[in-house]
Amino acid sequence: MKVAVELGSTATGDPAEMDLEELLSTRLLVQGNSGSGKSHLFRRILEQSAEVVQQAIIDPEGDFVSFSERFGHIVVDANRTPSELARIANRIRQHRASVVLNLEGLDAEVQMSCAAAFLNGLFDADRHHWFPMLIAVDEAQIFAPAVAGEVGDDARRISLGAMTNLMCRGRKRGLAGMIATQRLAKLAKNVAAEASNFLMGRTFLDIDMARAADLLGMDRRQAERFRDLEPGQFVALGPALSRRPIPVRIGPVETAGRSGRPVLMALPETPREAMQDLIFTPGADEPAALPEPTMREPQLATRELLERVSAARPAISTPLPVEEEPSPEELADRAEALDAIFAALLDDPDAAFRPAAVLYQDFTMHCRLKRISGAETDMSSFRRRLALARAGINEDTEDEEWRQVIARSEQLPEDMQGVYMMLARAARQAEPCPSDAALARAYGSHSPSRGRFLLTYMAERGFIACETDFRGQRVVTLAGSGWRTGAGEAKPRGGTLPPPRQRRA
Ligand SMILES: Nc1ncnc2c1ncn2[C@@H]1O[C@H](COP(=O)(O)OP(=O)(O)OP(=O)(O)O)[C@@H](O)[C@H]1O
Ligand SMILES: [Mg+2]
Repeated sequence: MKVAVELGSTATGDPAEMDLEELLSTRLLVQGNSGSGKSHLFRRILEQSAEVVQQAIIDPEGDFVSFSERFGHIVVDANRTPSELARIANRIRQHRASVVLNLEGLDAEVQMSCAAAFLNGLFDADRHHWFPMLIAVDEAQIFAPAVAGEVGDDARRISLGAMTNLMCRGRKRGLAGMIATQRLAKLAKNVAAEASNFLMGRTFLDIDMARAADLLGMDRRQAERFRDLEPGQFVALGPALSRRPIPVRIGPVETAGRSGRPVLMALPETPREAMQDLIFTPGADEPAALPEPTMREPQLATRELLERVSAARPAISTPLPVEEEPSPEELADRAEALDAIFAALLDDPDAAFRPAAVLYQDFTMHCRLKRISGAETDMSSFRRRLALARAGINEDTEDEEWRQVIARSEQLPEDMQGVYMMLARAARQAEPCPSDAALARAYGSHSPSRGRFLLTYMAERGFIACETDFRGQRVVTLAGSGWRTGAGEAKPRGGTLPPPRQRRA
């Protein structure tokens, strides 16, 4: 018995039908420019067939979530790890549930990886669960792009592989792809070529029209008719539709998507000055600056250490023979001697890459030779001083804001504090954000990737926010102060700065 999906009506007013069983083995490709009615057409087909065939809707915009209320589809939030998505996909095949994979709000690259993991999970299901299933992919050019674009090669390769599997090898496993795209020229050829049914909507660009004509076996002049189609009108061809190309007008739908047609609205009559105010003043609900990172138990404050560095006092840790309090002159001499030892130490070009512990050994040796001992020569005081020196900060950090920044740096692991302070200094002076290599150097490492890791670490813990401007240059804002660096070096190709949120293993 033929199970037909009623698409709408033909030019003669007869019902236009699509044979569902035929569709399952011959797949469908829909093309039309933005606003031509592809999503509406998908909705019509999915609504009409929801009760008779299992469905999975790959939904980049969260447009089909309403299917859950009307038809009982399970909404799968895609913000999960790939293995979790694959396991869910597996269970979906086992239990024959209709689902919407909601990819709304994710970066294109993350959308591709999630959809790929999910589709591969459906594809790899146990042979016992190869029940027929309709897989709808709207905006298919996102998942099977014709050329490498902005997204990373890995994401593209994985996603294209999953779409190719769906369209080329899915049939035996019961998977029937129906895909829609705004621009045929943007869709990978091998993915488009596997569909035998076509619904072509309004198309303006010659290159898309030419590809549509090739796929449909029409000559280019005949394809000109795609320009004159109205929204909601498609030319249908294929074993599940019609043996000859026929125009079809798609019927109404029950559920609502989010994309309406834009309608003109009267513009507001706000005077220019008031409008300027509205645009340039942050609203009450907008955060003026990043919130303070949550503080741990305060440790010994840097400032205190700095004070100990500059105002030398005898060590308390080792019992020393009772000494006279040193005179201010002696103190000054000692501080000067310490400064000189420290400066000589850092003068060595390799000093930036030597571990603090090794430098400290040198330092204490020189201190012993000069008979200097005391709190200012202990390890943590030395580390702090080294961190500040590597960050390029002198001890003129007396104002309140600096004190707060220094206090915040205490919350980071000791070896990262210098890097944080380096960012702080650049942000304070609105200088360009330090390069990965410079950050790594302040950490004592040669490897620029270490610099990126440090930024991610601090961003994830709320100490800083990293943004990339339109030229791919990095800008860092210090949480808790409004300090912000200028644009730094461009992000390296294939670099992996935040967002870390969705990038789970
Ligand atoms: N057959 C139809 N009957 C009534 N309204 C329709 C029909 N087809 C489309 N529309 C309306 O036209 C508008 C655009 O349609 P739709 O969102 O389906 O376009 P689209 O091709 O998916 O565009 P995009 O590529 O930008 O997503 C929607 O408001 C939709 O309700
Ligand atoms: Mg659409």
